[in-house]
Amino acid sequence: MTKQSQLFRTSQLEEADGPGLNPTGNRTMGDIIAARFSRRGFLKGSMASAAIAATVSPVALLAADEARAQSASVFNFPEVEAGVDADHHVAEGYNADVLLRWGDKVFADAPEFDPTNQSEAAQERQFGYNNDYVGFIPLDGATDRGLLVVNHEYTNEHLMFPGIVTMQNGELEVADATEDRANIEMAAHGGTVIEIRKVDGKWQPVLDAPLNRRITAKTEMQLTGPAAGHDRLKTSEDASGRKVFGTINNCAGGVTPWGTYIMAEENIHGYFIGELPEGHREAANYDRLGVPGGSYQWGNYHKRFDVGAEPNEPNRFGWVVEVDVMDPNSVPKKRTALGRFKHEGAESVVAKDGRVVFYLGDDERFDYVYKFVTAGKYNPDDRAANMDLLDEGTLYVARFDEDGSMEWLPLVHGEGPLTAENGFESQADILIETRRAGDLLGATPMDRPEDIQPNPATGRAYVMLTNNTKREEANAANPRVANAFGHIVEILEADGDFTATTGNWEILLQCGDPSVAEVGATFSTETTKNGWFGMPDNAAIDADGRLWVSTDGNSMGDTGRTDGLWAVDTEGDARGTSRLFYRVPVGAEMCGPCPTEDMTTMFVAVQHPGDGGEDWEGHGRPSYYEDLSTRWPDFRDDMPVRPAVVAITRQGGGRIG
Ligand code: FEO
Ligand code: CA
Ligand code: CA
Ligand code: CA
Repeated sequence: MTKQSQLFRTSQLEEADGPGLNPTGNRTMGDIIAARFSRRGFLKGSMASAAIAATVSPVALLAADEARAQSASVFNFPEVEAGVDADHHVAEGYNADVLLRWGDKVFADAPEFDPTNQSEAAQERQFGYNNDYVGFIPLDGATDRGLLVVNHEYTNEHLMFPGIVTMQNGELEVADATEDRANIEMAAHGGTVIEIRKVDGKWQPVLDAPLNRRITAKTEMQLTGPAAGHDRLKTSEDASGRKVFGTINNCAGGVTPWGTYIMAEENIHGYFIGELPEGHREAANYDRLGVPGGSYQWGNYHKRFDVGAEPNEPNRFGWVVEVDVMDPNSVPKKRTALGRFKHEGAESVVAKDGRVVFYLGDDERFDYVYKFVTAGKYNPDDRAANMDLLDEGTLYVARFDEDGSMEWLPLVHGEGPLTAENGFESQADILIETRRAGDLLGATPMDRPEDIQPNPATGRAYVMLTNNTKREEANAANPRVANAFGHIVEILEADGDFTATTGNWEILLQCGDPSVAEVGATFSTETTKNGWFGMPDNAAIDADGRLWVSTDGNSMGDTGRTDGLWAVDTEGDARGTSRLFYRVPVGAEMCGPCPTEDMTTMFVAVQHPGDGGEDWEGHGRPSYYEDLSTRWPDFRDDMPVRPAVVAITRQGGGRIG
């Protein structure tokens, strides 16, 4: 049995996992300070609601329209009211239409979804669980037809399967996975590629389209680049060190300039069980990643997920995966040149000289920000010529200095400490143990780097840092100890050149409730009580260069609000102003977001709806299949809550926001 406290929830994973895995920094404590920052704590305290009135500026007290008129904001929409309930909510004047739900057909011949009788074979033909990254790849240059690419990060068994939960002393206990259930879980992971079309103003999936595809934890993949074929990637099943089955915990991702789909492998440690053989050479490597995490029981039925039986298998996960979506039979490639860690995502931009730069976050407390610069140049006229750009280039890790400058430190074998004396025999060793290489180079330990979004028009990139309640010692780029609400760092690359090895940085926002002085949030005074957010996770820059931020964890901290999508000004007088555009149902996390190039649609992913509800008065107890806090989006007694991708459009058409 698995207790509720051990359930695999990425939002809370860091809390469950202890103080972070970087052995080089300072940490521990923090929880006591963090408790001070919970909303419940504040409301009990003497500051209470009086503090809200006392610290809100006169400008914020003006009528919303008046405030907007004074603002130089690049956004103009009526804000959603923050809060918690069973449904989702979008700004007035917009439609939020459910496009694809867990279990929906991806192929015309897929079976109808029956949650009481799910099978691996059915799930392999249906939309997977816990949609996270969403990308849109137009077909033939059309604005109303393209491929939606969606990651399925992980599974919530207690919400997916009937009859597996018992309540013990107010806590959920989930039965261990049977072989059938483990195989369904594996089929619900991975990704989906599906053609969608806009018909009469509404997006819909095209089930008989030739490029539709499900990728799962069993799909055959190829390891490529400098670490491919290395002894440390060989297993009893794969003497080549180049052939691996499946991708797991695909969090955020990207779409490359040449139209391939990137899936980032993040919290891979949870999928492994067992014990390494005594004295095994990978012991320190796996400790640094928390392998084996033991959240899933797949290893009981597939020995490659048992490190005692197959000690090298974890080295074949934790990579960036590239999928050629134009060939539904293509073998996805794990691009080892981009390093191995808990990859959040891989958003990219074409630099001035034609090389392509990928920004990479390693989502763990006290871990690092990276970028990868391709050796070759992007050729906009020859797609095939770009298909292996990700196999050659330079991986850098970031050091943020106190004076507001920064340096990108190359992870190159033979340079500085990255030598055989420190256990790096080759570039492959550096890529397999990227975190340890970053430690030795003196990279800056960050507060959980998530999505990093470059703005091609300005030479800047926005780093989402979710939180780090274990931080005891601030540094300039992570200025708050016990950082419960996270922040956003803005990088300005030298001369606006994304390939630069130096740059400057600023804090765009310290997140959290600005009406509570102790939190230290820095939203502009025009930000309303709905407009502030905590725990920034994913981000998008739209075609007008505007920043959108989605969050992970607001509903977990008793903040009185769910996660959602916020529009954030980055320029001029309005810089640091945020407003709420869309919010998710209880228990959910907001993923995506993906604005289309013509800005008429914003795709968002509602992940793990109904996962929680203890703190919400509408439920007030644990949520599981038989007793759900919400049955979004169907609200049918015979249908469980379902993660889903939502298409947001303006009523009557037109540009968003
Ligand atoms: Fe899957 Fe970093 O969140
Ligand atoms: Ca994330
Ligand atoms: Ca993004
Ligand atoms: Ca997330």
